[in-house]
Amino acid sequence: MEEVLRFYYSSARNRIGAAGDFYTAADLDPIFGQLLAKQFEQWAAPFGRFTIVELGAGKGLLAHDILRHRHFPYMILERSPAMRRRQQELLKDHDVTWIDELPRGITGCIFSNEFFDALPVHRLVRRGDVLKEIYVTEDFHEIERDLQPPVPALYDRLGGDTPPLHEGQTVEVNLEARHWIRRIAESLHRGYHVAIDYGYLRDEFYAQPHGSLMCYWRHQAVENPYIRIGEQDITAHVNFSDLMEEPSLQTMLFTTQKDYLIQLGILDEMEKLATAGDSVSMQRLLRMKNLILPGSMGERFKVLVQSKQL
Ligand SMILES: C[S@@+](CC[C@H](N)C(=O)[O-])C[C@H]1O[C@@H](n2cnc3c(N)ncnc32)[C@H](O)[C@@H]1O
Repeated sequence: MEEVLRFYYSSARNRIGAAGDFYTAADLDPIFGQLLAKQFEQWAAPFGRFTIVELGAGKGLLAHDILRHRHFPYMILERSPAMRRRQQELLKDHDVTWIDELPRGITGCIFSNEFFDALPVHRLVRRGDVLKEIYVTEDFHEIERDLQPPVPALYDRLGGDTPPLHEGQTVEVNLEARHWIRRIAESLHRGYHVAIDYGYLRDEFYAQPHGSLMCYWRHQAVENPYIRIGEQDITAHVNFSDLMEEPSLQTMLFTTQKDYLIQLGILDEMEKLATAGDSVSMQRLLRMKNLILPGSMGERFKVLVQSKQL
């Protein structure tokens, strides 16, 4: 999965947006970046220098929308050279630094939108009293094997001797997410971590009978990850409880994207557009609604805000 995702994001073909496989919030409207800029500005007020670090910036739209509203020292950690090139093109008039590793001593905010869901996961299945890991052969057949380190360490977290999974239930374990939250905590000297993504807290996460692994190809949801290898997106919901377990980060807020954007003032912006009433404003309004509608991004997406040494 690691290799397939690396290949997927390294392609010159546009993966995100109308011509790609899926939309992200920044594709819908610049308001998303504008409201994040407002949030960062509030947080930055007591600090002399407040650096923003974005993980996995895709086409760079969010960085663009944020920096249009407020200048911050801005770093992007992006693994895909193709995505980096797009970001550099879009952000050529802004002062952005691209990094390969999270530096130590950041005072500011490390944030991501749809980064954790793009990390590769392990898949486990309950068979009798034990959990097995699902492996894939070279010709894409699934085989089940005993858990190998470091996955067994997670067995306890799934409920000790009796995991709270039904017979045959599958679940994803995102070890990469655990590594990333550790790195984020180590990188941050003082400030905030924000993760925006679709996902659940632990109980809801383990209540999904078939797990949450899903593929996207040209805006269609596809269940089979063994077709169009490297050409369709593979994604899994985020278990936010795992991120909250990082001991040196304090959870300040966990809420839906809808409630978070309302708290940041999206309804006022929507009202201004409705009052303007011209066709451009009305089109923006329609797209913006998707950011907060429960059946669209509003409730599937969650926002986790954590802090360190505030
Ligand atoms: C689903 S896209 C999200 C893009 C963007 N944040 C947005 O909201 O449109 C995931 C992004 O994370 C990047 N990415 C995935 N794994 C990564 C890793 N291990 N290190 C750095 N970037 C990564 C991908 O190349 C891509 O830019």
